[in-house]
Amino acid sequence: MSHSAALSRVEIVEVAPRDGLQNEKTEISTADKLALISRAIAYGARRIEVTSFVSPKAVPQMADADAVCAGLPERDDVTYVGLVMNLRGAERALATGRIDQLGAVAVASDAFAHANQRQTAMGSVEVASQIVSAAKAAGKSGQVTIGAAFGCPFTGEVDEALVVEMAAALAQCGPAEIGLADTIGVADPAHVARLFAAVRAVVGDIPLRAHFHNTRGTGLANVWSAVQAGVGIIDASLGGIGGCPFAPGASGNVAGEDVAYMLARAGVSTGYDLPQMVDAAQWLGGVMGRGLPAMVSRAPLFPTGVVAASAARAAAKLAAQNDIQVSEKA
Ligand code: COA
Ligand code: ZN
Repeated sequence: MSHSAALSRVEIVEVAPRDGLQNEKTEISTADKLALISRAIAYGARRIEVTSFVSPKAVPQMADADAVCAGLPERDDVTYVGLVMNLRGAERALATGRIDQLGAVAVASDAFAHANQRQTAMGSVEVASQIVSAAKAAGKSGQVTIGAAFGCPFTGEVDEALVVEMAAALAQCGPAEIGLADTIGVADPAHVARLFAAVRAVVGDIPLRAHFHNTRGTGLANVWSAVQAGVGIIDASLGGIGGCPFAPGASGNVAGEDVAYMLARAGVSTGYDLPQMVDAAQWLGGVMGRGLPAMVSRAPLFPTGVVAASAARAAAKLAAQNDIQVSEKA
């Protein structure tokens, strides 16, 4: 079976409410988080990582996980993901009754697994598998992300064979998908192509998801490389906010609007509405009190489709009024 063909449709998972906000210094209110989630649904997100169920001492920004869940819009067509790192988190997420999918985290480095969640790399595979089983037993789905898959903030290079071994072990618990995360933004497109191909070879038909941070400017190139490698699911955060509090120097996720723009221009549909995303990103910048990293939100919209057609009509009307020959002016 071949997975190397470029895809015509890609799913973007909106992770701004969790990965995007977990590292923020400014406290974001539950109401603003819910407004962000509603806007995400409006601009086309159909899977949203809404919060994490972790220690509120470890990640104060996610202390309102229950309140966020209680306020989620009732939508049959939207999958709400809750991130969890231990069974206690899984129980908390399932108890809300509002989480459709548990997102477990395994980490491909003992040092980072310990800093993040007090586990070893293979221990995190064990716990993640239990979390997926708990989700399924509760009638929900569970997926796993392998964090630090492209590099560790403490020990540097991560053995590709370890990531492949972890993915193969995780495939045994029947996850809805397996993600590879570049937690600290060190990946390059060649590494992305190689690692996804190697993981694909051991996980059968389990869907793969890519999670990139743009810390060193390689985020979009990595997204494109993943899509070319047949990865049909991409995590992104509105405005490019985000980062892990336990990875020194970590910065934002690939920006949702930048990813949606690039894919749309390349003929890959995502179902995301760019003008509405830009609008939401500008609103989010106001909430956060700063400019956000995304590029597309700071550039003029590229005139396409309806907008371009009506702009052309307006230009022709103006030209007629002024008795200008448009073709001669061009
Ligand atoms: N939800 C809420 N609190 C939790 C919890 C959970 N899922 N799991 C543990 N805790 C609390 C315990 O109640 C305890 O609190 P206390 O100090 O007030 O008694 C404390 O966390 C430590 O508990 P323990 O059972 O020893 O947990 P641990 O040390 O094995 O695990 C984690 C600690 C995993 C809970 C903690 O490291 C964590 O939440 N990390 C979050 C990592 C993260 O979100 N990273 C970013 C996303 S990848
Ligand atoms: Zn991340």
